[in-house]
Amino acid sequence: MNPIRKPIIAGNWKMYKTVTDGLALVTALKKELIGVNHADVEVVVCPPFTALYATGTMLQGSSIKLGAQNVHWEKEGAFTGEVAAPMLKESGVNYVIVGHSERRQYFGETNEGVNKRAKAALASGIRPIICVGETLAEREGGHTEKVLETQVRGSLAGLSKDHMAETIIAYEPVWAIGTGKTATTAQAQDTHAFIRGLLGKMFDETVARRARIQYGGSVKPSNARELMSQPDVDGALVGGASLEARSFADIIKNSI
Ligand code: 13P
Repeated sequence: MNPIRKPIIAGNWKMYKTVTDGLALVTALKKELIGVNHADVEVVVCPPFTALYATGTMLQGSSIKLGAQNVHWEKEGAFTGEVAAPMLKESGVNYVIVGHSERRQYFGETNEGVNKRAKAALASGIRPIICVGETLAEREGGHTEKVLETQVRGSLAGLSKDHMAETIIAYEPVWAIGTGKTATTAQAQDTHAFIRGLLGKMFDETVARRARIQYGGSVKPSNARELMSQPDVDGALVGGASLEARSFADIIKNSI
């Protein structure tokens, strides 16, 4: 963590939580976070589309921000099953996850599509959380940096420096997602430093210094503090442990 970058902890609920469940979770979360100074940490919850609006209503007047889990690149149109950025914006959404490895793996999303989605979000005043990460085979084959460079360059292509001030990058090694295997703090730090260096080459040092890079993959209350203490780790994208108010709140408290 670095003092110029406020840590950002986002809960990706994935395909969990009905409207009722989501409302119960944020009600409990608000209680757990009483006393947490939101000047020290930014907190985001990312419910499924169906629970977004109701959850957003419940978050009004709190410092917890609302995020979605995907967005289409067109403003509207005949795209059955998709959701557009202006729709998310009007539902109270501040952030959107794009390019999650589950989207890349199961729904064929490409860097080009991720790039278009990120640009659509930015055009509607929504901050994209752009996910990148290597598989176990890629890490073991020594290809991590090459894979990440391709993902980062492809997903951020054509973004301006102003866009970059609104953009979050989430490094999520695929082999650490939902597996209980966390990257070691050294692996996380080294990879985040690599991504930051790449941003320096693609944009400039100021963009690189200001960019917030989250770590994701089996983040839990017990490992959050050590991960967040790394100089280039600026927050977490949390899956399983964000589905329960106490564990998500403990991760937040351990990140400050
Ligand atoms: P887990 O925290 O369940 O490993 O999920 C990480 C993730 O994919 C967050 O987007």
